[in-house]
Order: sequence, then C-alpha cells, then structure tokens
Amino acid sequence: MNAPAFDLVLRNARVATASDSFDCDIGIRGGRIAALGDALAGGAREIDAAGRTVTPGGVDAHCHLDQPMAAPVRMADDFDSGTRAAACGGTTTVIPFAAQERGQSLRAAVTDYHHRAEGRAHVDYAFHLIVSDPTPQVLGEELPALIGEGYTSFKIYMTYDDLKLDDGQVLDVLEVARRHGAMAMVHAENADCIEWLTKKLEAAGRTAPRFHAHARPMLVEREATHRAIALSQLVDVPILIVHVSGREAVEQIRWARAQGLNVFAETCPQYLFLTAADLGIDDSYLGARCVCSPPPRDASNQEVIWAGLNDGLFTVFSSDHAPFRYEGTEGKQPGGEQVAFRHIPNGIPGIETRLPLLYSEGVLGGRMTIHKFVELTSTNPAKAYGLHPRKGTVAIGADADLVVWDEREFVLRNEQLHHAVDYTPYEGMTLRAWPGLTLSRGEVVWDGATFHGRAGRGRFLACGEPSLLPRRG
Ligand code: URP
Ligand code: ZN
Ligand code: ZN
Repeated sequence: MNAPAFDLVLRNARVATASDSFDCDIGIRGGRIAALGDALAGGAREIDAAGRTVTPGGVDAHCHLDQPMAAPVRMADDFDSGTRAAACGGTTTVIPFAAQERGQSLRAAVTDYHHRAEGRAHVDYAFHLIVSDPTPQVLGEELPALIGEGYTSFKIYMTYDDLKLDDGQVLDVLEVARRHGAMAMVHAENADCIEWLTKKLEAAGRTAPRFHAHARPMLVEREATHRAIALSQLVDVPILIVHVSGREAVEQIRWARAQGLNVFAETCPQYLFLTAADLGIDDSYLGARCVCSPPPRDASNQEVIWAGLNDGLFTVFSSDHAPFRYEGTEGKQPGGEQVAFRHIPNGIPGIETRLPLLYSEGVLGGRMTIHKFVELTSTNPAKAYGLHPRKGTVAIGADADLVVWDEREFVLRNEQLHHAVDYTPYEGMTLRAWPGLTLSRGEVVWDGATFHGRAGRGRFLACGEPSLLPRRG
C-alpha cells in the first residue's frame, strides 16, 4: 500500500490570511505546509475543520518570560508555562527579551537566556535583545555580531533607572541598527518627568497603585515618543515604538508618518480593554494587578487605539506579557508587602488572551476584518522581526503553525488559563471565540480542551533582516 501523501490533512478549512480568504484542504508534511487545494490525497492523520476559520498561528513579538529580576521579584512564567499558555491561546511563535544587565556583556545575557529556554519551550521562539549598557565593546563588537547571528531586533528604554539610556546613548545604538539593518524598539516615557511626579505624589502620601497612572500621564509618553522620533530621524533609521497607549503618542506617530519617516508602532490588549480605573478608584491594593507602563488610559483613548489598528497606524499587536503573581512574595507584593506604587513590578499577563480578545471584540464584534487581525497579530510581527514567510502566513513552504477557531460565547476565568499567574486582568469578560486547535509545525499542541505540548519541542529561530521595508541596497 502507498504511504499517505501527507502527515496530516486539515480538511475543509476556511483559511484567512492578511490578504485573502479561501476554502481548501491543508496538506502538511515534515512540519510544513506542503499543499493547499481541493480534495487533497490522504494524510496519516486527518482533521476536519468543518468550514471553521483557520488563521496562521500568532506571533507574539513582545512578551517577557523568565527575565531576570532583582530579588525578591521573579517572573511567574518561564519558557515552559509561558509557551504552554501561548499555545493554548493560539500563539505559535514568541519573541521575548534577552536583557543585558548593566555591567554585563550582551553576549553573556544571550547565553544565559538560551539556558533559560533550552528544553522548556513548547512552541518556537526567537529573542529580542535589551541593550541597557551600550559600552564601546557592545556597540562596536557584540551588537553587530549578534545581529549577524539572528538577533536582529533590540529594545531600548527611555525610562526605568536600571535600563534607561540617555539621548546620546540612544543615538549610538540607533546608529548600529542603521549600519547593520536591525529593528530598534523603543519604550518611550520621559524618566525625569516620572521621577518628579512620583516624588510629588509620595510627598502627598499618594502611594496607592492607582497613583502609578498619575505619575505617568500621556504627556510623558508623548514627549518621549516625539524625542525618539527625532533621534531616529537624526540617524535616519526606522524605529518601532512599543506599547503605545493613547491619543498623544498616536498623534506624534501620525506626524512622523506624514513626514515620510519610517516609524512603526505597536499596541497591546490592555490599551483596548483596560482603563486607568482598573488600577483602582480608591486606594485598594488590588489595582496593583493592572499596574503596567504606560498605564491604560480611558474609554476615548481606547477608541483612538481601535482607529489606529484599523487605519494602518499600528503595525503589530503584542501582549507585552509581563507575568507577576498577585499573591506571595515574588510578584505584585514584593517580600509579601503592599508597597508604594513605585515599587510594584510593572506588567500584566496576556500571552494567552491576546488573540481571543482581539478575535472576539475585533473580528466578531465587527470592529476589524479577519485580514487585519491576521496582519496585526501574525504576519506583520513576523515581517518586522525577520521571520516571514516561514512564520506569519498560510502558504506552501511555511511552517504549519495554524489555529482553527471555535466561535462560542463563554465567560473568561483565570482558572481556564495555562500561565502561572494567579489572575487575569480580563476576569469575567464575555468572549466569543477561543482556539479550538493550535498546530505548531504540524503537531497538535492544543485541541480546545487539552494541552498536548512537550517541553523542549519548541525551537530557537534565528531572525533575518526585518522585511517591512524594501531591502537595503
Ligand atoms: O509594564 C510593562 N510594560 N512591563 C513590561 C516591561 C516593559 O516595559 O515592556
Ligand atoms: Zn516597555
Ligand atoms: Zn514589555
């Protein structure tokens, strides 16, 4: 008897890519998509998608997993629990950050981060770098070498005492990005304004979690966004502004685009589905669960973000998953203490809920086409970070990373999730969809009820040059 033509055939799929919808069978061989067509020959395994929507697996291009923190704080998710949660939420590629500590070589940070990932990941992963100490050695040797080895994007910070760069350092790092064709991601908030406001709030006894948002008004994000744009213009290099929260930063990016500058932008679920009120309307410490930077804004800013997602202002939609438990001593209550807002670890979980939230409220809520959804959550992040077309699309030759969507209404509860965090900011929300099947390189890792991953099956991906722009000459 002849061997089956395919390892797996996904029958009767209603495929949606960033540009097209079509009905077909998907033939998978050796972890890749080998055929798209009508009535394909048999597979060793067959799954009927029964006319359900099938999208490329999500690419979460901004998440933090097992990133070293100052004791006693520790991230709740490592590569095991973090990529398990990713898979169950339809994300098949993650790009967390190998973060350089001041005084540490960038190469050592990358080596350490590989150790943290090895043998643990359930889906494929690449690394961004975080450059916090741009010494001559880092700028002249380590960063160019690492870019050449497949670490083609890095994040720089304009705030946080242990990470922030001054303007001269930002220019130095951007110059390396220009010379070597890397993508620079910028966390844009004005550190001095935040410190000044924080001291004023502390002097007035205003230290509850909700005052985190008062210390980081939109103005501080707007100013730093403008400055980052100016610095990138001076060097003549594209940048990507991460986690844009609302109107004022959006206006700066629109202005830059109108000048013809290559300024890309990312936003995240918290800026669509949370507001500053989630940090507390009184001095309750529970608001610590939604402390992240920049903070969520208000309903009118949520509308600005929706508009920007639809009209091309935003290139990517990421989770910025930064997982800290609420209870215990390692997360939002460091050492078991309810601390002043400046000491609350920044960040919220979202790696598993990113796609279902946007599919439910965006696609099924009539706010976004399915093509825009795929573009923002999968295709563009793969292009921005040099992983396309292996990742981010449904095409012959691409990795068979696919999501089959179940459209059904249910109330979201943290106990349904697979991360190691003890809460979700979206507890109690009614969602209309969840992945019914996630395939990673042709293997079923989530079937809508049970997780089937295997720690260590996820592979490291070396990234190529970002392909959002025409190739450099
Ligand atoms: O509050 C946030 N966003 N935490 C994660 C770190 C970062 O700046 O992205
Ligand atoms: Zn950031
Ligand atoms: Zn982040």
